Amino acid sequence: MSGRSVNAQEIENKVKNLLSQMTLEEKVGQMTQVDFSVIGDPKEQNAEDQINPAKLEDAVLKHHVGSILNAPLAPDNKAQSVETWRKIMRTVQDAAATTRLKIPLIYGIDAIHGATYTQNSVLFPQAINMAATFNSELAFKEGEITAREVRASGLQWNFSTVMDIGRQPLWPRLWETFGEDVHLATVMGTSYIKGHQGDDFSAADKAPTCLKHYVGYSYPLNGKDRTPAWIGERMLREYFLPTFEAGIKAGSPTVMVNSAEVDGIPGHANHHYLTTILRDELGFKGFTVSDWEDIKRLYTRDKMAASEKEAVKIAVMAGIDMSMVPFDFSFYDLLIDLVKSGEVPMSRIDEAVSRILTVKYQAGLFEPKPLLPVEGNFATAEAIETNRQAARESIILAKNDHNILPLKKDADILVTGPTANLLSVMNGGWTITWQGDAEDLYPQEKLTVLEAIQKKSTGKVTYIGGDAFDAPIDVQKVIEEAKNYDVILLSLGEKPYTETVGNIESLNLDQAQIELANAAIATGKPVVLLTLGGRPRIITSIAERASGVILGFLPGMEGGEAIADILYGDYNPNGKLPVSYPRNTNGITPYDYKPMESFEQNTYNPLYPFGHGLSYTTFETSDLKAEKEKINMGENINVSVKVKNTGALTGKETVLLYINDVAASVTRPNKQLKAFKKVELNPGQTESVSFTLTPHDLSFIGVDLKRIVEPGDFKVMVGNEIVGFTVTK
Ligand code: BGC
Repeated sequence: MSGRSVNAQEIENKVKNLLSQMTLEEKVGQMTQVDFSVIGDPKEQNAEDQINPAKLEDAVLKHHVGSILNAPLAPDNKAQSVETWRKIMRTVQDAAATTRLKIPLIYGIDAIHGATYTQNSVLFPQAINMAATFNSELAFKEGEITAREVRASGLQWNFSTVMDIGRQPLWPRLWETFGEDVHLATVMGTSYIKGHQGDDFSAADKAPTCLKHYVGYSYPLNGKDRTPAWIGERMLREYFLPTFEAGIKAGSPTVMVNSAEVDGIPGHANHHYLTTILRDELGFKGFTVSDWEDIKRLYTRDKMAASEKEAVKIAVMAGIDMSMVPFDFSFYDLLIDLVKSGEVPMSRIDEAVSRILTVKYQAGLFEPKPLLPVEGNFATAEAIETNRQAARESIILAKNDHNILPLKKDADILVTGPTANLLSVMNGGWTITWQGDAEDLYPQEKLTVLEAIQKKSTGKVTYIGGDAFDAPIDVQKVIEEAKNYDVILLSLGEKPYTETVGNIESLNLDQAQIELANAAIATGKPVVLLTLGGRPRIITSIAERASGVILGFLPGMEGGEAIADILYGDYNPNGKLPVSYPRNTNGITPYDYKPMESFEQNTYNPLYPFGHGLSYTTFETSDLKAEKEKINMGENINVSVKVKNTGALTGKETVLLYINDVAASVTRPNKQLKAFKKVELNPGQTESVSFTLTPHDLSFIGVDLKRIVEPGDFKVMVGNEIVGFTVTK
């Protein structure tokens, strides 16, 4: 970090000075975060100025609140124009400027794949797709563009990025993660943070990020959102903690807390995670914010506290610095009482408030820079092009029998299925609204898959399907019409959803889609299956009979055009699966399974494995070499491999390097991704790619829960090749 506004010593002095002037009420106000509806007026929903001055005064002057979140107006939070946001932010900060100590508010928003709640922002592929690009430069650029658009909207803090690991495919937030692998998620997440924050997040085009949801949220046993995870501490440290540790090292100054529970302890009550590990061990200096209403829920849901007051005490003493209350001032009132009665010491309040004020100084909120001009900073042609490139690189060609793809431009195509003609199914949750399902609010100039095909095609394109997801599709018509077309594009998948709303009982597709697929296949015409949605729904019997399969997941606002680019060969696909695609509903074994998961009757048998993804050209890797046969404990080792484009088209290939610790005191995964590199090669071109493996790459969480490297043999695997080396004591 550099620059005057982020000088650590100077900020520390300012914080101390300010804190010494604050009353208890002012301090507890800083720890209180409320939803926009607390200052907004529901009756004025469509009015330009949505703030109710009396409510604003009550929140900011009377209750001293330090933070506000969300778009107007719960429960239908909707994207606003840049101008409306700027006006809202001016009004809010003007109110803060009239308080005794003029402490600015920090306004937070879920800009998960771009500035969700600002109209016409650049909305990227969701994280699951960004992971499929295996391109950290694109994640960096997404961070840069998102921060710029958030700041151009006057907003100051982004509740992104999700550092949870996606190892439970049923979980309705899988698509918010960078997939099942720790290394991939670490690289993509930290690249995003660096792009979003730069070296100094007080810059006019940068903003602080928030690591969420600390920790273990993403692994509910039953797959439902906000239900218990049972993660032992070794597993926690091996799979769920490293991404947060990396995010902290990358400089993210805020952490949002797990809304569910791990091993019987709700995230918001877990002193061990929030203080012992997060502070004492990982050295996190920023502030923690609760998730939505989750302090109250220690009482109302978890029955952990006997009253709301006790819930506040448990959470604050566990290590929560700011409460996303979000609809009232109960937290404020109860915490003041708890301090007055001595149940919460003033030292804990001072600690929390110091952390919050420090981040406010670091973010430059006390000396705000002029807002960026909208022109040249918002939805620029360059940003839209980056988004389209991200979408293209995020789409996975999973099957291409007899080169059914790419299609000829003059092919006659029968398009059917519920996801072919909607923008919402390509964007998912956190798009314009919380649930992302308000199709009528989507920018009309963006193209659905159908529209993008129609734009490129010189042949006949016909669409059979209702415009809405729930409208029954005329299966009979598909059967009758098929003979007049060269190919059927069958576009299946999921409606958009976010959080608990997206819970499902089974990964199976719904019956109507299965029937449509069976009918399309029975026509005998070649079928290209396209799937869109946040989870890998079971498509096995359809995929086995289809000629081509494209896994689209949630490619964002440019997804339609990107898919058409790939369908017609205007872009050579290179996306790779960031999760294992299950063959059956219960086939949820990840790629880095333990030996016993592939022993005797047990097998890792996904429909498509982690890292799978075809191209219109072919690649071969060869000459895998480890620089040494033996290294000493604590040394790095260099590994190199050659990759050749053996086909006829230019294309990009991601070289994936896995390791295996041959024998260890804690069972080791059959393989673990430790490095990857994406290269672009012309036909016939060969490139040598090298990697450096560090002691950290060879380490694991040992019997005593500490990270260790054990001497012995290791295997390095790239493509079909394996090379070994030994670590000596
Ligand atoms: C979600 C968070 C989000 C917060 C604020 C919660 O319900 O779990 O991911 O940041 O709401 O909108």
